[in-house]
Amino acid sequence: MKRKFLWGSAFSGPQTEGKGQGKSLSTWDYWFQKEPQKFYHQLETSNDFINQYKTDIKLAKEVNFNSLRTSIQWTFLMPNGKDVNPAAVTFYNNMIDEMLQQGIVPIINLFHFDMPMWLMDQGGWTTKASIDAFLHYATTCFQLFGDRVKTWMTFNEPIVHVECQYLYQYHYPCIESIPQALQAMWNTIIAHKVVVKKYHELNLGGEIGIILNLKLPKPRSQSVEDLQAANWADIWQSRCFLDACLKGQFPEELISESKKRNWTWKTTPAEWTLLKNYPIDLLGLNYYQPLRVQAPTKLITKDLPDQLFYNDYQKPGIKINKSRGWEIYPEGIYEALMHIKNNYNNIPVYIAENGTGIEGEEKFVNQKTKMIEDDYRIEFLGDHIAAVERAIKDGSNCFGFHMWTYIDNWSWLNSYKNRYGIVSLNINTGQRTLKKSYYWLRDFIANKEL
Ligand code: BG6
Repeated sequence: MKRKFLWGSAFSGPQTEGKGQGKSLSTWDYWFQKEPQKFYHQLETSNDFINQYKTDIKLAKEVNFNSLRTSIQWTFLMPNGKDVNPAAVTFYNNMIDEMLQQGIVPIINLFHFDMPMWLMDQGGWTTKASIDAFLHYATTCFQLFGDRVKTWMTFNEPIVHVECQYLYQYHYPCIESIPQALQAMWNTIIAHKVVVKKYHELNLGGEIGIILNLKLPKPRSQSVEDLQAANWADIWQSRCFLDACLKGQFPEELISESKKRNWTWKTTPAEWTLLKNYPIDLLGLNYYQPLRVQAPTKLITKDLPDQLFYNDYQKPGIKINKSRGWEIYPEGIYEALMHIKNNYNNIPVYIAENGTGIEGEEKFVNQKTKMIEDDYRIEFLGDHIAAVERAIKDGSNCFGFHMWTYIDNWSWLNSYKNRYGIVSLNINTGQRTLKKSYYWLRDFIANKEL
Protein backbone atom coordinates (compact mmCIF):
# COMPACT_ATOMS: atom_id res chain seq x y z
CA MET A 1 0.00 0.00 0.00
CA LYS A 2 1.38 3.38 -1.01
CA ARG A 3 1.20 5.82 1.89
CA LYS A 4 1.37 9.55 1.84
CA PHE A 5 4.25 10.70 4.06
CA LEU A 6 2.83 11.93 7.35
CA TRP A 7 4.04 15.19 8.80
CA GLY A 8 2.56 16.11 12.11
CA SER A 9 2.63 16.08 15.84
CA ALA A 10 1.52 13.92 18.72
CA PHE A 11 -0.16 15.06 21.91
CA SER A 12 -2.52 13.40 24.35
CA GLY A 13 -5.89 13.95 26.01
CA PRO A 14 -4.64 14.19 29.59
CA GLN A 15 -1.86 16.60 28.64
CA THR A 16 -4.00 19.06 26.70
CA GLU A 17 -7.76 18.78 27.13
CA GLY A 18 -8.49 20.16 30.59
CA LYS A 19 -11.61 19.29 32.57
CA GLY A 20 -14.35 17.90 30.40
CA GLN A 21 -17.92 17.93 31.66
CA GLY A 22 -18.74 14.66 33.42
CA LYS A 23 -15.18 13.34 33.38
CA SER A 24 -14.23 11.02 36.24
CA LEU A 25 -10.82 10.98 37.92
CA SER A 26 -7.82 9.33 36.34
CA THR A 27 -4.86 8.35 38.51
CA TRP A 28 -3.29 11.68 37.49
CA ASP A 29 -6.28 13.77 38.61
CA TYR A 30 -6.46 11.84 41.86
CA TRP A 31 -2.73 12.11 42.55
CA PHE A 32 -2.75 15.83 41.82
CA GLN A 33 -5.59 16.31 44.30
CA LYS A 34 -3.81 14.23 46.91
CA GLU A 35 -0.21 15.40 46.50
CA PRO A 36 -0.05 18.55 44.35
CA GLN A 37 3.42 19.35 45.68
CA LYS A 38 4.79 16.46 43.60
CA PHE A 39 3.98 18.37 40.41
CA TYR A 40 6.24 21.16 39.21
CA HIS A 41 4.88 24.45 40.59
CA GLN A 42 1.62 22.59 41.32
CA LEU A 43 0.37 23.34 37.82
CA GLU A 44 -2.47 21.40 36.22
CA THR A 45 -3.19 20.98 32.51
CA SER A 46 -4.21 24.36 31.15
CA ASN A 47 -4.01 24.05 27.36
CA ASP A 48 -7.83 23.99 27.31
CA PHE A 49 -7.83 21.99 24.08
CA ILE A 50 -11.48 21.15 24.71
CA ASN A 51 -12.34 24.74 23.86
CA GLN A 52 -9.33 25.67 21.71
CA TYR A 53 -9.28 22.67 19.38
CA LYS A 54 -10.28 24.63 16.28
CA THR A 55 -7.48 27.16 16.74
CA ASP A 56 -4.98 24.44 17.55
CA ILE A 57 -5.90 22.31 14.53
CA LYS A 58 -5.60 25.42 12.35
CA LEU A 59 -2.10 26.00 13.71
CA ALA A 60 -1.25 22.45 12.67
CA LYS A 61 -2.68 22.97 9.22
CA GLU A 62 -0.76 26.21 8.74
CA VAL A 63 2.57 24.62 9.58
CA ASN A 64 1.85 22.17 6.75
CA PHE A 65 1.05 19.15 8.92
CA ASN A 66 -1.23 16.58 7.32
CA SER A 67 -1.83 14.46 10.44
CA LEU A 68 -2.14 14.68 14.22
CA ARG A 69 -2.18 12.04 16.93
CA THR A 70 -3.98 12.46 20.19
CA SER A 71 -5.66 10.15 22.69
CA ILE A 72 -9.19 9.73 23.90
CA GLN A 73 -9.48 10.02 27.67
CA TRP A 74 -11.16 6.86 28.93
CA THR A 75 -12.35 8.77 32.02
CA PHE A 76 -14.01 11.42 29.87
CA LEU A 77 -15.67 9.12 27.36
CA MET A 78 -16.81 6.52 29.89
CA PRO A 79 -16.62 8.02 33.37
CA ASN A 80 -17.83 4.85 35.12
CA GLY A 81 -16.41 2.45 32.56
CA LYS A 82 -19.87 1.38 31.43
CA ASP A 83 -21.89 4.31 30.13
CA VAL A 84 -20.94 6.78 27.47
CA ASN A 85 -20.72 10.47 28.41
CA PRO A 86 -22.62 12.54 25.76
CA ALA A 87 -20.42 15.62 26.37
CA ALA A 88 -17.32 13.59 25.49
CA VAL A 89 -18.93 12.05 22.40
CA THR A 90 -19.79 15.53 21.18
CA PHE A 91 -16.28 16.81 21.83
CA TYR A 92 -14.46 13.92 20.14
CA ASN A 93 -16.86 14.00 17.18
CA ASN A 94 -16.24 17.73 16.77
CA MET A 95 -12.49 17.32 17.10
CA ILE A 96 -12.31 14.49 14.55
CA ASP A 97 -14.61 16.29 12.11
CA GLU A 98 -12.59 19.48 12.44
CA MET A 99 -9.36 17.64 11.69
CA LEU A 100 -10.86 15.99 8.62
CA GLN A 101 -12.34 19.25 7.42
CA GLN A 102 -8.94 20.90 7.66
CA GLY A 103 -7.26 18.05 5.80
CA ILE A 104 -5.62 16.52 8.86
CA VAL A 105 -5.58 12.72 9.23
CA PRO A 106 -6.53 11.84 12.82
CA ILE A 107 -4.56 9.07 14.50
CA ILE A 108 -6.31 8.08 17.70
CA ASN A 109 -4.61 6.39 20.60
CA LEU A 110 -6.65 4.69 23.33
CA PHE A 111 -4.39 4.81 26.39
CA HIS A 112 -1.76 7.39 27.24
CA PHE A 113 -0.80 6.62 30.87
CA ASP A 114 -4.28 7.69 32.11
CA MET A 115 -5.72 4.84 34.15
CA PRO A 116 -9.25 5.50 35.45
CA MET A 117 -9.28 5.74 39.24
CA TRP A 118 -12.26 3.36 39.54
CA LEU A 119 -10.15 0.71 37.82
CA MET A 120 -7.00 1.57 39.77
CA ASP A 121 -9.00 0.89 42.93
CA GLN A 122 -9.43 -2.69 41.67
CA GLY A 123 -5.71 -3.06 40.90
CA GLY A 124 -5.28 -1.22 37.59
CA TRP A 125 -3.31 -3.18 34.97
CA THR A 126 -2.46 -5.87 37.54
CA THR A 127 -6.05 -7.11 37.58
CA LYS A 128 -7.57 -9.25 34.84
CA ALA A 129 -10.64 -7.01 35.07
CA SER A 130 -8.59 -4.35 33.24
CA ILE A 131 -8.52 -6.48 30.08
CA ASP A 132 -12.32 -6.73 29.76
CA ALA A 133 -12.78 -3.11 30.75
CA PHE A 134 -10.28 -1.93 28.14
CA LEU A 135 -11.89 -4.09 25.47
CA HIS A 136 -15.29 -2.61 26.26
CA TYR A 137 -13.93 0.94 26.12
CA ALA A 138 -11.98 0.33 22.88
CA THR A 139 -14.95 -1.32 21.18
CA THR A 140 -17.10 1.68 22.12
CA CYS A 141 -14.52 4.02 20.58
CA PHE A 142 -14.43 1.99 17.35
CA GLN A 143 -18.23 2.01 17.14
CA LEU A 144 -18.50 5.73 17.82
CA PHE A 145 -15.62 7.07 15.74
CA GLY A 146 -14.40 4.23 13.53
CA ASP A 147 -16.36 5.45 10.50
CA ARG A 148 -13.95 8.43 10.27
CA VAL A 149 -10.85 7.41 12.20
CA LYS A 150 -8.91 4.92 10.11
CA THR A 151 -5.70 4.70 12.14
CA TRP A 152 -5.91 3.49 15.74
CA MET A 153 -3.28 2.86 18.35
CA THR A 154 -3.89 0.78 21.47
CA PHE A 155 -1.20 2.15 23.82
CA ASN A 156 1.43 4.83 23.96
CA GLU A 157 4.75 3.55 25.38
CA PRO A 158 3.26 0.79 27.56
CA ILE A 159 6.61 -0.02 29.18
CA VAL A 160 6.37 3.43 30.77
CA HIS A 161 3.20 2.81 32.73
CA VAL A 162 4.51 -0.64 33.73
CA GLU A 163 7.83 0.69 35.01
CA CYS A 164 6.66 3.99 36.39
CA GLN A 165 3.70 2.53 38.31
CA TYR A 166 5.30 -0.68 39.58
CA LEU A 167 9.05 -0.13 39.78
CA TYR A 168 9.84 3.55 40.05
CA GLN A 169 7.99 6.39 41.68
CA TYR A 170 6.94 8.41 38.64
CA HIS A 171 3.31 7.30 38.24
CA TYR A 172 0.67 6.61 40.89
CA PRO A 173 0.43 4.20 42.81
CA CYS A 174 4.26 4.18 43.07
CA ILE A 175 4.61 0.51 43.97
CA GLU A 176 7.97 -1.29 43.85
CA SER A 177 7.40 -4.88 42.85
CA ILE A 178 8.75 -6.84 39.92
CA PRO A 179 5.97 -9.48 40.03
CA GLN A 180 3.37 -6.73 39.89
CA ALA A 181 5.26 -5.04 37.06
CA LEU A 182 5.31 -8.33 35.17
CA GLN A 183 1.59 -8.86 35.80
CA ALA A 184 0.80 -5.32 34.58
CA MET A 185 2.96 -5.88 31.51
CA TRP A 186 1.34 -9.20 30.68
CA ASN A 187 -2.20 -7.87 31.15
CA THR A 188 -1.36 -4.84 29.01
CA ILE A 189 -0.12 -7.12 26.23
CA ILE A 190 -3.28 -9.23 26.42
CA ALA A 191 -5.49 -6.11 26.52
CA HIS A 192 -3.69 -4.94 23.39
CA LYS A 193 -4.22 -8.32 21.69
CA VAL A 194 -7.95 -8.57 22.38
CA VAL A 195 -8.44 -5.04 21.10
CA VAL A 196 -6.47 -5.69 17.88
CA LYS A 197 -8.52 -8.85 17.37
CA LYS A 198 -11.76 -6.97 17.94
CA TYR A 199 -10.82 -4.13 15.60
CA HIS A 200 -10.08 -6.52 12.75
CA GLU A 201 -13.33 -8.42 13.38
CA LEU A 202 -15.33 -5.19 13.12
CA ASN A 203 -14.01 -4.72 9.59
CA LEU A 204 -14.07 -0.96 9.64
CA GLY A 205 -11.58 -0.57 6.81
CA GLY A 206 -8.76 0.92 8.85
CA GLU A 207 -5.62 -0.19 10.61
CA ILE A 208 -4.44 -0.64 14.15
CA GLY A 209 -1.07 -0.58 15.84
CA ILE A 210 0.78 0.42 18.97
CA ILE A 211 3.24 3.15 19.85
CA LEU A 212 6.49 1.93 21.40
CA ASN A 213 9.50 3.86 22.58
CA LEU A 214 12.64 2.34 21.18
CA LYS A 215 15.84 3.08 23.07
CA LEU A 216 18.42 0.71 21.69
CA PRO A 217 20.88 -0.19 24.45
CA LYS A 218 24.52 0.75 24.06
CA PRO A 219 26.91 -1.08 26.38
CA ARG A 220 29.65 0.87 28.17
CA SER A 221 32.23 -1.62 26.88
CA GLN A 222 32.51 -4.93 25.08
CA SER A 223 33.11 -6.83 28.33
CA VAL A 224 30.93 -9.91 28.86
CA GLU A 225 29.23 -8.23 31.82
CA ASP A 226 28.38 -5.03 29.96
CA LEU A 227 27.16 -6.98 26.93
CA GLN A 228 24.94 -9.07 29.18
CA ALA A 229 23.57 -5.90 30.75
CA ALA A 230 22.80 -4.53 27.29
CA ASN A 231 21.00 -7.75 26.42
CA TRP A 232 18.80 -7.48 29.53
CA ALA A 233 18.08 -3.83 28.79
CA ASP A 234 17.04 -4.83 25.29
CA ILE A 235 14.75 -7.58 26.59
CA TRP A 236 13.11 -5.35 29.17
CA GLN A 237 12.94 -2.05 27.32
CA SER A 238 12.24 -3.24 23.78
CA ARG A 239 11.64 -6.91 23.20
CA CYS A 240 8.85 -7.55 25.72
CA PHE A 241 6.43 -5.40 23.74
CA LEU A 242 8.01 -5.51 20.27
CA ASP A 243 8.19 -9.31 20.22
CA ALA A 244 4.69 -9.65 21.64
CA CYS A 245 3.11 -7.25 19.16
CA LEU A 246 5.09 -8.20 16.08
CA LYS A 247 6.26 -11.79 16.52
CA GLY A 248 3.72 -13.23 18.93
CA GLN A 249 6.45 -14.08 21.43
CA PHE A 250 7.47 -13.22 24.97
CA PRO A 251 11.23 -13.28 25.74
CA GLU A 252 12.26 -16.77 26.90
CA GLU A 253 15.13 -15.35 28.96
CA LEU A 254 12.69 -13.35 31.08
CA ILE A 255 10.44 -16.36 31.55
CA SER A 256 13.27 -18.58 32.76
CA GLU A 257 14.85 -15.89 34.97
CA SER A 258 11.44 -15.30 36.53
CA LYS A 259 11.06 -19.00 37.25
CA LYS A 260 14.44 -19.04 38.98
CA ARG A 261 13.53 -16.09 41.13
CA ASN A 262 9.96 -17.08 41.85
CA TRP A 263 8.50 -14.07 40.14
CA THR A 264 5.11 -15.31 39.15
CA TRP A 265 2.33 -13.71 37.21
CA LYS A 266 -1.01 -15.11 36.20
CA THR A 267 -1.56 -16.27 32.64
CA THR A 268 -4.09 -18.60 31.05
CA PRO A 269 -3.73 -20.95 28.06
CA ALA A 270 -6.19 -18.76 26.14
CA GLU A 271 -3.92 -15.76 26.74
CA TRP A 272 -0.89 -17.61 25.35
CA THR A 273 -2.92 -18.29 22.21
CA LEU A 274 -3.82 -14.61 22.00
CA LEU A 275 -0.15 -13.69 22.40
CA LYS A 276 0.85 -15.82 19.42
CA ASN A 277 -1.72 -14.23 17.13
CA TYR A 278 -3.09 -10.83 16.10
CA PRO A 279 -0.05 -8.90 14.89
CA ILE A 280 -0.34 -5.15 14.36
CA ASP A 281 -0.77 -3.43 11.00
CA LEU A 282 1.63 -0.57 11.66
CA LEU A 283 4.01 0.63 14.33
CA GLY A 284 4.47 4.07 15.88
CA LEU A 285 7.95 4.58 17.18
CA ASN A 286 8.88 7.21 19.78
CA TYR A 287 12.52 8.18 19.95
CA TYR A 288 14.18 10.67 22.26
CA GLN A 289 17.54 9.21 23.29
CA PRO A 290 19.61 6.02 23.32
CA LEU A 291 19.97 3.82 26.40
CA ARG A 292 23.55 3.59 27.59
CA VAL A 293 24.01 0.72 30.00
CA GLN A 294 26.59 -1.00 32.11
CA ALA A 295 26.73 -4.16 34.20
CA PRO A 296 24.96 -3.75 37.54
CA THR A 297 27.07 -1.82 40.00
CA LYS A 298 24.73 -2.00 42.97
CA LEU A 299 24.10 -4.95 45.22
CA ILE A 300 20.83 -6.76 44.71
CA THR A 301 18.90 -5.56 47.70
CA LYS A 302 15.44 -5.50 46.17
CA ASP A 303 13.98 -7.23 43.17
CA LEU A 304 14.38 -4.28 40.85
CA PRO A 305 15.46 -5.18 37.34
CA ASP A 306 17.96 -2.41 36.79
CA GLN A 307 19.84 -3.44 39.90
CA LEU A 308 19.65 -7.03 38.81
CA PHE A 309 20.22 -6.80 35.10
CA TYR A 310 21.69 -3.44 34.14
CA ASN A 311 22.35 0.09 35.29
CA ASP A 312 22.17 3.27 33.28
CA TYR A 313 25.50 4.69 32.28
CA GLN A 314 26.38 8.24 31.35
CA LYS A 315 29.14 8.32 28.81
CA PRO A 316 31.53 11.23 29.37
CA GLY A 317 31.44 13.98 26.76
CA ILE A 318 28.04 13.25 25.26
CA LYS A 319 25.66 16.01 24.18
CA ILE A 320 22.83 16.45 26.67
CA ASN A 321 19.62 18.44 26.92
CA LYS A 322 20.27 19.75 30.42
CA SER A 323 16.62 20.68 31.09
CA ARG A 324 15.53 17.07 30.76
CA GLY A 325 18.81 15.23 31.31
CA TRP A 326 18.36 13.33 28.05
CA GLU A 327 21.19 12.61 25.63
CA ILE A 328 20.96 14.13 22.16
CA TYR A 329 21.92 11.47 19.64
CA PRO A 330 20.17 11.78 16.25
CA GLU A 331 21.87 8.66 14.90
CA GLY A 332 19.71 6.67 17.33
CA ILE A 333 16.59 7.33 15.28
CA TYR A 334 18.34 5.85 12.23
CA GLU A 335 19.46 2.86 14.28
CA ALA A 336 15.95 2.33 15.66
CA LEU A 337 14.38 2.39 12.19
CA MET A 338 17.00 0.02 10.81
CA HIS A 339 16.42 -2.29 13.79
CA ILE A 340 12.75 -2.51 12.81
CA LYS A 341 13.72 -3.06 9.17
CA ASN A 342 16.23 -5.78 9.90
CA ASN A 343 14.61 -7.60 12.80
CA TYR A 344 10.88 -6.96 12.51
CA ASN A 345 10.15 -7.65 8.89
CA ASN A 346 10.29 -3.98 7.92
CA ILE A 347 6.74 -3.36 9.09
CA PRO A 348 5.30 0.07 8.10
CA VAL A 349 6.49 2.39 10.83
CA TYR A 350 6.36 6.09 11.51
CA ILE A 351 8.18 8.25 14.01
CA ALA A 352 5.36 8.93 16.44
CA GLU A 353 7.28 11.25 18.81
CA ASN A 354 10.55 13.12 18.68
CA GLY A 355 11.39 16.48 20.13
CA THR A 356 13.14 18.44 22.84
CA GLY A 357 11.78 20.05 26.02
CA ILE A 358 13.61 23.14 27.25
CA GLU A 359 13.21 25.03 30.50
CA GLY A 360 13.08 28.83 30.64
CA GLU A 361 12.57 29.60 26.97
CA GLU A 362 11.82 33.23 27.82
CA LYS A 363 15.62 33.64 27.82
CA PHE A 364 15.53 33.19 24.07
CA VAL A 365 12.93 35.87 23.30
CA ASN A 366 14.15 38.40 20.76
CA GLN A 367 13.30 41.70 22.43
CA LYS A 368 12.45 43.42 19.15
CA THR A 369 10.24 40.79 17.55
CA LYS A 370 9.12 39.19 20.86
CA MET A 371 9.64 35.80 19.25
CA ILE A 372 11.26 32.83 20.99
CA GLU A 373 14.29 32.05 18.85
CA ASP A 374 14.63 28.35 19.52
CA ASP A 375 17.53 27.55 17.24
CA TYR A 376 18.37 24.53 19.42
CA ARG A 377 14.98 23.01 18.46
CA ILE A 378 15.53 23.71 14.77
CA GLU A 379 18.88 21.96 14.99
CA PHE A 380 17.39 19.06 16.97
CA LEU A 381 14.50 18.45 14.59
CA GLY A 382 16.62 19.02 11.48
CA ASP A 383 19.24 16.49 12.58
CA HIS A 384 16.67 13.86 13.52
CA ILE A 385 14.67 14.27 10.32
CA ALA A 386 17.91 13.94 8.32
CA ALA A 387 18.58 10.61 10.08
CA VAL A 388 15.02 9.47 9.24
CA GLU A 389 15.59 10.39 5.63
CA ARG A 390 18.78 8.34 5.57
CA ALA A 391 16.95 5.33 7.02
CA ILE A 392 14.32 5.61 4.29
CA LYS A 393 17.04 5.71 1.64
CA ASP A 394 18.50 2.58 3.24
CA GLY A 395 15.21 0.73 2.90
CA SER A 396 13.22 1.52 6.06
CA ASN A 397 9.48 1.44 5.56
CA CYS A 398 9.13 4.66 7.53
CA PHE A 399 6.15 6.70 6.36
CA GLY A 400 6.01 9.67 8.69
CA PHE A 401 7.48 12.00 11.24
CA HIS A 402 5.49 13.36 14.19
CA MET A 403 7.16 15.72 16.59
CA TRP A 404 6.46 15.93 20.30
CA THR A 405 4.80 18.29 20.49
CA TYR A 406 3.74 21.29 18.43
CA ILE A 407 2.11 23.32 21.21
CA ASP A 408 3.73 23.44 24.67
CA ASN A 409 1.77 21.09 26.90
CA TRP A 410 1.59 19.59 30.36
CA SER A 411 4.30 17.03 31.11
CA TRP A 412 3.22 14.78 33.96
CA LEU A 413 5.33 15.43 37.10
CA ASN A 414 7.25 18.12 35.22
CA SER A 415 4.01 19.94 34.46
CA TYR A 416 4.93 23.03 32.35
CA LYS A 417 8.63 23.10 33.32
CA ASN A 418 10.06 22.03 29.96
CA ARG A 419 8.52 23.36 26.77
CA TYR A 420 8.45 21.17 23.67
CA GLY A 421 6.39 23.30 21.30
CA ILE A 422 7.05 25.15 18.10
CA VAL A 423 4.11 27.19 19.45
CA SER A 424 4.49 28.74 22.87
CA LEU A 425 1.60 28.57 25.33
CA ASN A 426 1.02 31.30 27.89
CA ILE A 427 -0.42 29.23 30.72
CA ASN A 428 -2.06 32.25 32.34
CA THR A 429 -3.85 33.69 29.32
CA GLY A 430 -3.97 30.66 27.03
CA GLN A 431 -2.40 32.72 24.26
CA ARG A 432 -0.56 30.77 21.57
CA THR A 433 2.53 32.44 20.04
CA LEU A 434 4.64 31.10 17.21
CA LYS A 435 8.30 30.37 17.85
CA LYS A 436 11.05 30.64 15.24
CA SER A 437 10.96 26.85 14.78
CA TYR A 438 7.33 27.07 13.64
CA TYR A 439 8.32 29.13 10.58
CA TRP A 440 11.33 26.94 9.97
CA LEU A 441 9.28 23.73 10.02
CA ARG A 442 6.53 25.21 7.85
CA ASP A 443 9.05 26.06 5.11
CA PHE A 444 10.98 22.85 5.60
CA ILE A 445 7.90 20.67 5.03
CA ALA A 446 6.78 22.78 2.06
CA ASN A 447 10.09 22.13 0.32
CA LYS A 448 10.57 18.51 1.29
CA GLU A 449 9.73 15.48 -0.79
CA LEU A 450 9.86 12.22 1.19
C1 BG6 B 1 6.81 10.60 25.89
C2 BG6 B 1 5.35 10.60 26.28
O1 BG6 B 1 7.44 9.53 26.47
O2 BG6 B 1 7.59 11.68 26.29
C3 BG6 B 1 4.75 11.99 26.44
O3 BG6 B 1 4.60 9.86 25.37
C4 BG6 B 1 5.73 12.89 27.17
O4 BG6 B 1 3.53 11.89 27.09
C5 BG6 B 1 7.01 12.98 26.34
O5 BG6 B 1 5.20 14.13 27.46
C6 BG6 B 1 8.07 13.90 26.89
O6 BG6 B 1 8.42 13.54 28.20
P1 BG6 B 1 8.21 14.55 29.40
O7 BG6 B 1 8.24 13.72 30.63
O8 BG6 B 1 9.33 15.51 29.33
O9 BG6 B 1 6.89 15.21 29.18
